[in-house]
Amino acid sequence: MSRLLLLNGPNLNLLGNREPDLYGTVTLESIEQRCRALATELGHELDAMQSNAEHELVHRVQAAAAEGVGAIVINPAAFTHTSVALRDALTAVGIPFIEVHLSNVHGREGFRRRSYFSAVAAGVISGLGPLGYELAIRAADALLRGDA
Ligand code: DQA
Repeated sequence: MSRLLLLNGPNLNLLGNREPDLYGTVTLESIEQRCRALATELGHELDAMQSNAEHELVHRVQAAAAEGVGAIVINPAAFTHTSVALRDALTAVGIPFIEVHLSNVHGREGFRRRSYFSAVAAGVISGLGPLGYELAIRAADALLRGDA
């Protein structure tokens, strides 16, 4: 049994209503529930947090190290393209993480193609909608079992 942490960045609290053509109609609450159920099925415990504030996400990542979190699944949202601080927090704690995006960031505006996270992520999933989070939980499980 390992502890997994699911983190979501700014504006993802609006999922369900936010630009449904891009991000779909599934709410964040439902994504978190599905991920928690899947983590439990795989024998893990999942904690989830969303914040619109960069420093809160940095604090949460730092706390994860003390809690013995084994892997992080993160959609940094707009911080993907701006946050050296959040990237540094992840590399500082050294917890393997998987970067997830609902939309395909490579098929959108040029500024979304640059991620501060991808180069240091264990893997990146982009463009598969809410399914991407479930695939990331499965990937985290495989990583923890030394299978990925
Ligand atoms: C996003 C893509 C980002 O570019 C954007 O700022 C988001 C959501 C996604 O899940 O597709 O807020 O991370």
